[in-house]
Amino acid sequence: MYILGIETSCDDTCAAVLQNDRILSNVISSQINLHSIYGGVVPDIAKRAHQQRLPAIVSLALKRSGIKLTDIDLIAATRGPGLGITLSIGYNFAKELAKTNHIPFVAVNHVEGHLLSVFLKNKNGSPHILPRFPFLGLTVSGGHTKMVLIKKIGDYQVVGETLDDAAGEALDKSAKLLSLGYPGGPVIERVAAVGQTDFLKLPQPLQPKNILNFSFSGLKTSFYYQIKDWPAAKIASHLSDLSATIQASVFEHLIRKFSLAIDLCRPTSLLASGGVLANLTLRRQLRQLAKTKKLPIFFPPQKKLNTDNAAMIALAALYRFQKNKSINDLELDISPRLEL
Ligand code: KG4
Ligand code: ZN
Repeated sequence: MYILGIETSCDDTCAAVLQNDRILSNVISSQINLHSIYGGVVPDIAKRAHQQRLPAIVSLALKRSGIKLTDIDLIAATRGPGLGITLSIGYNFAKELAKTNHIPFVAVNHVEGHLLSVFLKNKNGSPHILPRFPFLGLTVSGGHTKMVLIKKIGDYQVVGETLDDAAGEALDKSAKLLSLGYPGGPVIERVAAVGQTDFLKLPQPLQPKNILNFSFSGLKTSFYYQIKDWPAAKIASHLSDLSATIQASVFEHLIRKFSLAIDLCRPTSLLASGGVLANLTLRRQLRQLAKTKKLPIFFPPQKKLNTDNAAMIALAALYRFQKNKSINDLELDISPRLEL
C-alpha cells in the first residue's frame, strides 16, 4: 500500500509517502526562523506558513517518492492534539485531496504517531524490529510527556503523564530565560555538553513512589527564582552550567518515573520517541536504564523521526486501516485536545 501522510499540528509543515512501513519520502518544512524571534510558536504565523507551504510540500513528497497521487491508496492527517488553527490546515487539505480523488482517509492521533514512529523503516526496509508486546512507551515532546502501555498496536493505556508543562516545554522556557533562543531543547543540549549538572539545587518533583505522573513547572519556577536577580553577565558566564543543571533535572525526573512505571507495568520491551528524544544524553540514560532492567529499548530509526513528521502519521493510519479496511474518517473534524 502507498500512504500519503500530512502533519501540521504545530510549526512544522510535513508530508510523507510510505510503501507500507517503508519511508519513500519524508519532507519537513520547519518554521523555526519565523517563530524564533518571538521565543515560541505564534499560532497565526504558523497557520499562514502552513497555508502557503503545504501544497508544495505535498507535491515534493510525492515527487521524491516517485509515486503519483493516483497510485496513493490511503491519505492520512493529524487530527489532534495540537493547535486548532494549524491542525485544520493540514487536516482539511488532506480530506479535500481524499474526497476529490476517491481515496480512503484516516484521521490520526499525533501522540500515537510518535509512539509508533519506532516501527518506521528506511527505504531499504531496515531496521527490522520484531515487536515484542507489551511495550512501555515514553513519548516526550514540546506538547506532551506520556508513558503508555502498548498491549498491541491500537490498544493503549496511558499510565502516567505530565500534570502541567511538557518536558520539552520546560526546556524551551528555561532556554528563553537564558536568552538561548527557540526551540530551547537542542540549544540546551549543545551548551550543556561542557557544563556542571549540579550547579544549582533544583527540587525533584512528585517524589512519592506511587505517583507515575510528571510535573515540570516546579522545576522551571525554582530555576527562574534562583537566577532572576542575576545580572546578565553572570548568567552569560554560567550558561553551560545552568543549561546542564536544568537539563539534568528534567531528565532525572523522566528517568525516575519511567523506571517506576517499568517496575509496575512489567513490559517486555521499551520504546521512547518524541522531539526531546533527539537528545543524545537522554537516549544514553534510557539505554542505561533499559540495560539495568534487562529489557530491549527502541528509538525511531532516524534522528528526524523524533521530532514532528508525517511518516509517523502515515504509519499509524496504515495500522488502523489494516485492522478495519472500511475505515473512512471524512466525517470527523479536528480535535485539538484529542486523547489517546
Ligand atoms: O515532537 P516535537 O517536534 O513537537 C511536539 O509535538 O511538541 O517536539 C519538539 C520539542 C521542543 O520542545 C524541542 O525543544 C524539543 O522537542 N527538542 C529537544 C531536542 N530537539 C528537540 N529537546 C532536547 N534535546 C534536543 N536535541
Ligand atoms: Zn510532536
